[in-house]
Order: sequence, then C-alpha cells, then structure tokens
Amino acid sequence: MDKNLVEYAQQFTSPESQILSKINRETHLTQTYPQMLAGHMQGLLLRMISQMIRPERILEIGTFTGYSAICLAEGLTPPPSTLPFKGRRRGGVIHTIESNPELESTIRTYLEEASLEDSVILHIGDAIEIIPAIDETWDLVFIDADKPNYRNYYELVLPRVRKGGFILADNVLWSGKVLDLPLKWDRDTRGISEFNELVQLDERVENLLLPFRDGLMIIRKH
Ligand SMILES: C[S@@+](CC[C@H](N)C(=O)[O-])C[C@H]1O[C@@H](n2cnc3c(N)ncnc32)[C@H](O)[C@@H]1O
Repeated sequence: MDKNLVEYAQQFTSPESQILSKINRETHLTQTYPQMLAGHMQGLLLRMISQMIRPERILEIGTFTGYSAICLAEGLTPPPSTLPFKGRRRGGVIHTIESNPELESTIRTYLEEASLEDSVILHIGDAIEIIPAIDETWDLVFIDADKPNYRNYYELVLPRVRKGGFILADNVLWSGKVLDLPLKWDRDTRGISEFNELVQLDERVENLLLPFRDGLMIIRKH
C-alpha cells in the first residue's frame, strides 16, 4: 500500500497501549527478527476480532514475545465473578505455544506486567506435539508459527474448533512470493501456498483472504 496512505491510516487509528508499545520497542531492540511481531495495526485488528467473538477458549500457535497473545486476550470472556449469571460461563483463557525456550522469561514478564498471567497459559515446546495434548474446544485459533507446518496446524485444530468458530492465519501472502512460479518456491512459500489451497478447497469452512499487511486468512467453520 502507498506509504502515505499507511501513515494516514495510522493517524486515524487509536494509539498503542503503554505495555504493547513497550513490548514493541524492546522486541525491536533485543530480537534478531523483530518484524515477526504483529505490530500496532494488526494487533488492534486481532484485539477487535477477539472482542467481537468474546471467546472462552483461544489457541495461539507462535507466541514470540507475547504481543499478539496480549491483544487476543483482551477480547476473552471476563471471569465468572464479574458476570451477572455466575456459573453459566467460564472465564476466558488463551493457550499460546512457543518453541523457543529462550523467550519464556521475557513472555512471562510481559504477561505479568499486563496482569494477564492468569488468563494466558504458555506452553514451551513444539506446537505439533503440544496441540493434541490440550483438551479444549476452540472458539478462536491464531496460526502464526513456522510456515511449512501451516497445513498440519490447520488439520490438527479444525476438528477441535466449535461450529461457527474461527481460525486466523497470518502471512498468507508471504511478501507476494505466493505469486512466484511453483518452481521458485522455497519451503516457506510452498507451505503457505499449499495451506491457502487446502483452505480454499475445504467444504468444512468459509474463508476470506484479507490483503491486510502480509495477508490474514480468516476462516469460519460451518
Ligand atoms: C511470527 S512469530 C509469532 C509472532 C507473534 N504471534 C506476534 O504477533 O507477536 C513465530 C513464532 O513461532 C515460533 N515457532 C516456530 N516454530 C514453532 C513450532 N513448531 N511450535 C511452536 N512455536 C514455533 C517461533 O519461535 C516464533 O517465535
């Protein structure tokens, strides 16, 4: 998108919260690939989607420094003690999975600073092994980890998504590389392209490839 239009859009978007701005800044100072962080506008989009759904159970695959987990957590159903009909609904929880153990203490520190340590359950390890071990039904899933496994994550989570529930998948345009000839695809581009095709042909869902930032696939289970 035209740089000036992006700046204009940012100018007419609510500002980043203090904690998210801190995570954003520190991630850029300390991490080798800070561009993996969702960032302000996408974070706000994730938060608003979560606030529209009001999920009880969210699964995030790929925590990094916790930025998007915090955004998604802000839409969770509040704890039962604050609801008028106690016991009818559970308080919301987000499970988030990160394979890099070196990120654990940073993520936990940020979750505490955001007062979300009770709402966010952090799993450190390989998502392919961890997902089947979590006994939950998902209202919302955010796929944002290694691209060659997108299809595997989708197949693992879809049976556990409730009817009418949503899956979001980030980076589905992969900087435009999905338009390259298949001969030129690297593993990541192949992973993303095959994922997009799988979803498009899947009659269990309806889907929208939103050309926002690096592409966000929004999938709703019938
Ligand atoms: C794009 S970043 C996630 C960004 C984060 N969702 C955000 O918006 O702030 C992808 C993360 O997935 C993690 N990851 C890669 N492969 C994984 C796997 N097999 N299981 C769990 N996490 C994985 C990486 O270590 C990295 O931190």
